[in-house]
Amino acid sequence: MSRSPMIVRTLPALRRALDGHRAKKATIALVPTMGALHDGHVSLVRLAKRRAAKVVVSIFVNPAQFSPTEDFSSYPRTWKTDVARLAAEHVDLIWNPDVKTMYPAGFATKILTEGPATAGLEDRFRPHFFGGVTTVVGKLFTQCRPDMALFGEKDFQQLRVITQMARDLDLGVRVIGSQTVRERDGLAMSSRNVYLSTEDRMMAPELYRAMKKTAMRVRGGDDLKAAVVEGARLITAAGFVLDYFEARHARTLAPIKSAKDGPIRLLVAAKIGNTRLIDNIAI
Ligand code: PAF
Repeated sequence: MSRSPMIVRTLPALRRALDGHRAKKATIALVPTMGALHDGHVSLVRLAKRRAAKVVVSIFVNPAQFSPTEDFSSYPRTWKTDVARLAAEHVDLIWNPDVKTMYPAGFATKILTEGPATAGLEDRFRPHFFGGVTTVVGKLFTQCRPDMALFGEKDFQQLRVITQMARDLDLGVRVIGSQTVRERDGLAMSSRNVYLSTEDRMMAPELYRAMKKTAMRVRGGDDLKAAVVEGARLITAAGFVLDYFEARHARTLAPIKSAKDGPIRLLVAAKIGNTRLIDNIAI
């Protein structure tokens, strides 16, 4: 039986509801999302339910993390099915502010991040992105004051940036990363996968295959740089236009030269047709 979660759209109502839970000493987990929920989000919700007494899911398509040329207006919005999915998972509360609530007239503050946010990966191709993400996530943390917040590893740099921000700003929120959920053919689940044409959808899993082959070569003792160059060749040969394919230190995201400098994370961003995909795996 699914019970509809409480849907909250104003800050006073959010504070009332969450203060009520806190007064009863209930732990609170937050799963921040932009809606268009898929099985990856559901796995975060399930993990949150195992870790905390109350689960809050925020649904807010954050204009601040899109550049004027990106897909803010066409970003998939699937409110009804999102609510049904969250009801089926027994989520306690959906925090669904509108843009004016999140960014009232005169809003003039941004969280500025360095370290993993300037690693030269997503930030190189989407310079506006992390300023927008950290500002909204910082606000979500102070609005909801959760004990913990859960994010997918698919956005690996984002996870590192938010972890660093929570620590640096003493936000008192434990940031938990959770494994990427994949389609049967290996494509990482993403709300943007709906943009893929039928042909592009067929080619899209090649990204994961190329990463896996690269990881296998490195684990087998091949030179890291040569394995990454070959992986990039496979990705391009499959029809992608590559933004980056890189081996980085899994915690700092600093470039590394050899497998012994690890733990290593392989990270990729590439376009197939009009769709930009990102993915990553551990070596
Ligand atoms: O990963 C996302 O869906 C978004 O970047 C997030 C963390 C919800 C912030 O808008």
